[in-house]
Formats: sequence, structure tokens, C-alpha cells
Amino acid sequence: MKKMNTIHTVLGERIHHIPKHKSKKLFAPTNIALCKYWGKRDTELNLPITSSLSIALTGKGTETTLNLIENDHDEIVLNGRAIASTSHFYQRLCDFLNLFRNKSTRFHINFVSNIPIAAGLASSASGFSSVILALNDLYDWKLSLQELSILARLGSGSACRSLWDGFVEWKMGEASDGLDSYGQPLPYCWPELCIGLLIVNQNEKPISSREAMERTKITSSLYTLWPEKVNESLLVTKKALENQDFSLLGQTAESNAMTMHAMMLSAWPPIIYFQPETINAMQQIWKLRQQGLEIYFTQDAGPNLKLLFLQNDVEIIKSQFPSMEILQPFLFKF
Ligand code: PMV
Repeated sequence: MKKMNTIHTVLGERIHHIPKHKSKKLFAPTNIALCKYWGKRDTELNLPITSSLSIALTGKGTETTLNLIENDHDEIVLNGRAIASTSHFYQRLCDFLNLFRNKSTRFHINFVSNIPIAAGLASSASGFSSVILALNDLYDWKLSLQELSILARLGSGSACRSLWDGFVEWKMGEASDGLDSYGQPLPYCWPELCIGLLIVNQNEKPISSREAMERTKITSSLYTLWPEKVNESLLVTKKALENQDFSLLGQTAESNAMTMHAMMLSAWPPIIYFQPETINAMQQIWKLRQQGLEIYFTQDAGPNLKLLFLQNDVEIIKSQFPSMEILQPFLFKF
């Protein structure tokens, strides 16, 4: 199995470490892609067809603790509620944990998350990256963040970008074993940058990003245009970050996200993550932009939008979207 080969290579003799009783509480932020990851060249190793670039929502994410338990099954608790062993999330997490533990080891996993789950706010990214941080502590592997990023990717692709605050690029890599495919923090800081989390609908998504990505890749005739689009978005985004050119950053992020959704609309059967409220919000944003306000959005595999704007416009944007939570990732204080 390819995943086991990756783990053997990254862990080396550490694969034999004995776990201690309990890990520390470990936190990983969620991240929002400005240049999206959409499509895998290797579905088992979650190796992407393109690189991608994200910003961490510092302070918003998942805190995880792993406890060894004497039990015949794992116990998973999310925000105080036990997760049913029949759920997809439970299965997916156990499959991930099985890669690292011996057959008789069972865990009690406690997740405390301050983001809406499965609403396209990358909860799986911070979930898997915080689990890998907790495993690193429990087994005393002392791995680097780069090595942990490779392991987190095996759980969820975008998790490999959730080990740092700030802007992170996931370098797609070229190797078939994926050892050169991991997140790398970028040296840009933008204190005035604001992100608004516009939750229009908290329901679970109708189709997972994993399935939607694969269906888009296989059935959308537009998919062949995607790698070039992302490569251009990456170049322009880095230029915008370098020059703190907000219009360029916003336009590039919004156009990148809309291209991803356009491909999904042209997949078969078509995939649509927009809800009526999503479109209403988009139209409101476009109208404000026509009136001269610098406001843009990005959207992932869910109906909610993440708005991008600068600190100077916070008051006017609050008056337009009163219930929206506003974050300033570079000014977050723990
Ligand atoms: O890592 P996954 O399988 O949850 O996929 C993430 C997909 C997007 O959020 C839509 C894009 C991205 O780059 O985060």
C-alpha cells in the first residue's frame, strides 16, 4: 500500500515508538485556499494536479487530544458529542489512525472545533492536521512541520497547508511517492487583510470534495484548462502579495474560485454547491464593487462564502453583512 510506504519512509525507525498515555492538546488552524486544489494525480496519496495557495484563519480551527484507551473500538468526540461509529467521518478517521498504530491500539479522540463542520470551511483540513500534531506528540516522533505536512496530506489534501499560520503554498511536487508534495509557509504578512465568514447555510454538503473533485476531473471537458488557470493564479497571487495589491489579490482569488465552480457545473452529473443565498450574497458583493467598494469572495465545496476586504472598509462591510464574523488573520491574539 502506497500510504504505508510514505509512512515508513517519513518515520523510519520511529515507526516502532510506543505511545504515551495521552497527547497534549494540539491546535491547527483551518485554511482557505486563494488558489484552489481541485483534482488529484494520485487518489490514494492525495497528490494534486497543481500547486495551491491558502491563508490560515489563525485562531479558527480544531484542538485535538488523543488518549489511549482499553476498548475494542475508538471513541471520537466532537465538541462534546460522541460521533457514531457508522458515520463516514468516524470511518475515515479510523482508517487514517490505522496507518500509524498497531492492531490493538485504541484511542479516545477529543476534537474541539470553533468552525462550522462540513460547511466548506475546511474543517477536515484543521481536523487531520491537528490529529497528526497529536500523534507526533503521543509517539514522540519529533518530526519537522514539513514531514508532518506530508503525513497530514494522507488524511486530507488541504490538511497539508494547515500546519502554519499565514500564507502557505502547497507545492504539488513531481515524485510518484509524494515526498516532495507538502505545504511551505510564504514570507508575506498583511495586517490589514480581513476575511469575513459569510455562513448562508450550515447543512452538510451534498457531495464530498473528494468525490466532486474526481467527478470533475473525469467528466468535465473544461478540466483540461484548469492546470494553466491555477498556474497563472499562483503567479499573479504571489505578485499581489509581494506588492500588497489588494485588487489584484481579490480578483485573482474570486476568478479562481468561480472557474473551479464552472468546471463543476459542467461535470456529469453536474455538481452545484451554490444555494439561493449564495447567489444573493454574490450579487450583493458585485453591486458593492460597482459602487467602488473593494470586496471580493472565494467559495469552496459548500454554499458559504469567504469575503476578502481591507481593514479600512470594516465598518461599511459590517453594515452590509451584520451577522458575518470578521477575522484579521495577521492581527489575531491568542
Ligand atoms: O482537502 P479536501 O479533500 O477537503 O479538498 C479541499 C478542496 C477545496 O477546499 C475546495 C480547495 C482547497 O484548496 O482547499
